[in-house]
Amino acid sequence: MAAILDLIDRRAFIASLGGAAAVAVMGHEERAEALEHYAENRLNELAAAQNNGGAGAQERPFPTVAELDAQIETCSTRRGMSNLFGNGRGNVRRLEKMPEKPTILDFFRLRFQPANHVLQSATRAMKTGMKEEVILACLLHDVALNLMHVDHGWWGAQMFEPYVPEKTSFAIRYHQTLRFYADEEAGYEYPDSYHRTFGVDYVPPPHIQSAYKMLRNHKWYMEPRLVTVNDLYSFDPNAVVTIDPFIDIVGRHFKQPKEGLGNDNSPVAHMWRTLANPDAPL
Ligand SMILES: [Fe+2]
Ligand SMILES: [Fe+2]
Repeated sequence: MAAILDLIDRRAFIASLGGAAAVAVMGHEERAEALEHYAENRLNELAAAQNNGGAGAQERPFPTVAELDAQIETCSTRRGMSNLFGNGRGNVRRLEKMPEKPTILDFFRLRFQPANHVLQSATRAMKTGMKEEVILACLLHDVALNLMHVDHGWWGAQMFEPYVPEKTSFAIRYHQTLRFYADEEAGYEYPDSYHRTFGVDYVPPPHIQSAYKMLRNHKWYMEPRLVTVNDLYSFDPNAVVTIDPFIDIVGRHFKQPKEGLGNDNSPVAHMWRTLANPDAPL
């Protein structure tokens, strides 16, 4: 436990719970549980930061595709497993029930937390003066990881398509593709973390290659490209970020269904119901 506590920045922990006033009204057990979740998330973030070139990462050689492939049967879950459904590192936690008509902000609060990486991305996009469709895309670009890691750009674009501007879903879908291709002029280099995650000799599959070819000549190339630019710098384990600065942008551009996400009979409603009720056996 002491080692876990070492990872905790007390101020950041309290801020993550909504401030000292919010902590004061929490019961002892609730506070202990929150601390445990916070520590777990910090560990995940530190691992992500390390993969992204943090301390110690440089000393290990990058694995090859074959070496990563050989690890498949040493894991209790597949690598494409989503965040909300467990990560093979201990038990899942009890989830708070969603409100009857959940909004995107409810999902952020109750299912996507801590959402630190996407909040960092959007914060950077806002600070660097990017347009609102891109800021929104940054805020949502990896949220689908809660549902599915494999092809998360496509999953993410699909779940948001009925509710966001076309440029935003385009950026979400194709940021996944552009992560594999450097663009010096735009300020995006191939990340070391990808050498580590995919293997040093990895070649993207045909659907990624053909999406890249299409994107190079597309008038909206820069939309997903800017998401990748913000992506690179958004793995700071010490960043304290909140969704507050983005509430107006969400209000302006996210067409929240009045029945609530999951209840609107849209072609993607089941994806939102799955996120709302991941404990359902069928
Ligand atoms: Fe992503
Ligand atoms: Fe990302």
